[in-house]
Amino acid sequence: MAIFLPDEFVERVRSESDLVSVVSSYVQLKRRGNRYWGCCPFHQEDTPSFSLKPDEGFFYCFGCHAGGNVFKFISLIENISYYDAIVLQAERLNIPLPEREKTPQEIARDKKLAALREVHELAGKFFHNCLTVTPYGKAGLEYFHNRGIGDDIIKEFNLGFAPDAWSKLTDAFAKRGLDTELLLESGLVVKRQQGNGEYDRFRNRAMIPIMDERGRVCGFGGRIISDGQPKYLNSPETMLFNKRRLLFGLDKAHRHISQAGFSLVVEGYMDVISVYAAGIKNVVASLGTAFTVEQCKKLLRYAPAIYFCYDSDRAGQEAIARALGIAGETNAEIKVVQLPDGKDPDEFIRKHGVDEFRQVIGQAISVVEFQLKHILAHSDINGLEGRLRALTEMLPVLGSIKNTAERSAYISKVAQLLSVSENDILVELTKKGNGFSHQPRDNSKVRDVVHQVDDASRRAGRVIIRMVWNEPAIVEHFVSLVPIESLPEAIHKQILTVLYDKYRAGEQVTDIMSLSSLGEDVVAELSRALVEDLGQEDISLLYEACVRQLRRSYLVSQYKVHSENAERLRQQGDAKYMEELAISQKIKQEMDELQSVD
Ligand code: GTP
Ligand code: MN
Repeated sequence: MAIFLPDEFVERVRSESDLVSVVSSYVQLKRRGNRYWGCCPFHQEDTPSFSLKPDEGFFYCFGCHAGGNVFKFISLIENISYYDAIVLQAERLNIPLPEREKTPQEIARDKKLAALREVHELAGKFFHNCLTVTPYGKAGLEYFHNRGIGDDIIKEFNLGFAPDAWSKLTDAFAKRGLDTELLLESGLVVKRQQGNGEYDRFRNRAMIPIMDERGRVCGFGGRIISDGQPKYLNSPETMLFNKRRLLFGLDKAHRHISQAGFSLVVEGYMDVISVYAAGIKNVVASLGTAFTVEQCKKLLRYAPAIYFCYDSDRAGQEAIARALGIAGETNAEIKVVQLPDGKDPDEFIRKHGVDEFRQVIGQAISVVEFQLKHILAHSDINGLEGRLRALTEMLPVLGSIKNTAERSAYISKVAQLLSVSENDILVELTKKGNGFSHQPRDNSKVRDVVHQVDDASRRAGRVIIRMVWNEPAIVEHFVSLVPIESLPEAIHKQILTVLYDKYRAGEQVTDIMSLSSLGEDVVAELSRALVEDLGQEDISLLYEACVRQLRRSYLVSQYKVHSENAERLRQQGDAKYMEELAISQKIKQEMDELQSVD
């Protein structure tokens, strides 16, 4: 368990860290003016939108909105926790870690975890050894070689073999003095049902170690090398082996996922190995269970897009449909790679080669297209009834398409496919309220204008945050004109509330991450506020303009409240309406005055 890091320690590591030199060891930076630019390591891009200012100590990517301080950067690029990033950086700078007493429970848990890790590392070596140097491994080697898996890949994936015997691992590990309870807990060893003693869980199987994203062995998948059941035997859930969180291959894939801009999710271990061996290295698999939200979020840390490439059989396609449901709850950009009949990626590559596989990836289809195809695949559209049923299933899919042009294109496609008129589909869509209504064009113009105003207010919010950050006393002046509650952005409210509270408590905030309990998006927005280019404007003029902008939107909302109050009271015959009217008129006057300034 982690030791507690006192603020002074974190502050010391931070102040001794040079953001530019830390980032430079991962990203090529170019200086322009008072800031540095580079291609963002967290998403795919050719023109630099990753920026940092040495004196501010924060980075921000205008493309993918990743942002934060030096520790945040290290945690993202090294794929470790924020805490571990501080520790790592302290080690790099030779700053000794503070010491703290741990609770007995923490000590016990640490020990257990460390021991489990060690057992898994040893088991990984044991199986690999059995495969590559002992005579027991012959059948395993033959199996891998027959599947086109060469010795280099066996080494890179640390593949192994569990001997065709009852207790080779149990005996070997007992001899090493490893604790039986621990071995049972790891799931590598099982208690005999009758009599005393234990035996090996994995026997006569090709062994695939499953690593976490940092390359630590957490469990195993064992494939039977002849016919028989079950085809794959996995480690049971343990403190290390959590099937919902782990993704097979992620330890090797994550850098490639960032570079490629997408992750390729396949169904099987062997698919990952095969695809990776063929040179497409941004590939992972979920562990024989359904794709989970946890796995999805993990992948999104490396790239915003996820391509699913499951087996082309019915089960595979159903699994994709489920995975899309899961991934659809996040903001992942999703595509589906479709293999011709009866294939999985491993078989496909072995039969057609990697070039053709790349082409198939290039032809990945959108979620909408997949869903429409999927419905079509299990519908009988020869008869009228079947066509109507298919249409009913397709309506929500069509309704979910936000882009108007895209929606129209799909509507006419579906109309053709099912031989119905486009207009009938439109009518059905509007009637059903399938998340879709016919918007007159003018409305979208209004929306655009509203968006522009919003953008200006958001930017103004960031400018205020930046100024308050640099000069906390300013916040008093600001809140006297604009109540924090009235800001249009919830996230700005959160940030300014904290800054205001700290200011009043006489505390200084020097590190963004002290606000990290507020969430990732807060850290990113704050970083953005701090590195955003303010242009050549005079800083005090800019401040005034931003206050005016925000005050105006505050007044607009207040005007609405009071004039509506006045109207309501007047209708009720309540004489107090005069007061409300007076207030609203006063607000109106200030609005007009503000208008005349700009
Ligand atoms: P190969 O036949 O070796 O090519 O397997 P595959 O990778 O093509 O596997 P398949 O498509 O049959 O299954 C996909 C994944 O589901 C596997 O990689 C396993 O993780 C999991 N899986 C398959 N069969 C079993 C099983 O019998 N038990 C368990 N627990 N998982 C399985
Ligand atoms: Mn297969």
